[in-house]
Amino acid sequence: MFPEVDRVLVSEAQIRERVGELASEIARDLRAELDAQGQTLQDEDQIVFIPIMTGAMIFVADLVRQMPVKLSLDLVTVSSYPGETVTSKGAHLASDLPENLAGKHVVVLDDILDSGRTLALIKRVVSERKPASLRIAVLLDKKTNRAEAVEADYVGFEIPDEFVVGYGLDYNGYYRNHPEIAVLRPDAIPARDG
Ligand code: IMP
Ligand code: MG
Repeated sequence: MFPEVDRVLVSEAQIRERVGELASEIARDLRAELDAQGQTLQDEDQIVFIPIMTGAMIFVADLVRQMPVKLSLDLVTVSSYPGETVTSKGAHLASDLPENLAGKHVVVLDDILDSGRTLALIKRVVSERKPASLRIAVLLDKKTNRAEAVEADYVGFEIPDEFVVGYGLDYNGYYRNHPEIAVLRPDAIPARDG
């Protein structure tokens, strides 16, 4: 789709299959948890999905459409990669957190877990709201770069320590609409970066 793409790490077909599996796993676990409380996946006011914008938008759109679950979506925005950069500069909350999370089953979604700063921050602030449960699902996990100790409960794919774009992930705001997970040609990423 873009000439700047060098290599594909995860194809569209692989993503489609794995997102379907994740939807089933998350629904199964939520069902078990609600069951224990005498509730069902169709009951109101129980389940809140929190996608972290902007990277999680395509992942969440595909995921929730495969889940027969009565859920509400509450977006948060975390900023960590301003402009032309491929390394984490620290995470900060750039929007309000949903107010009414107390007693709810919360699933936080992100495109990728890298340094862990983003999800550590979200986990901390969501926990303060006293949810009944808190789960983290990510499409990608780069295991190598943790600056903060945080793990996801659901991982689509583990990938090596390479900067990737597509399926929601950007470089300098672009390539989010590339349909697969790909690595850009080195000359597409300015050398001053890193
Ligand atoms: P962390 O805070 O370092 O764990 O990074 C998480 C955020 O950084 C993700 O939500 C992404 O938006 C962004 N990010 C991390 N690695 C990549 C990458 O390889 N490509 C594009 N964005 C990335
Ligand atoms: Mg992000």
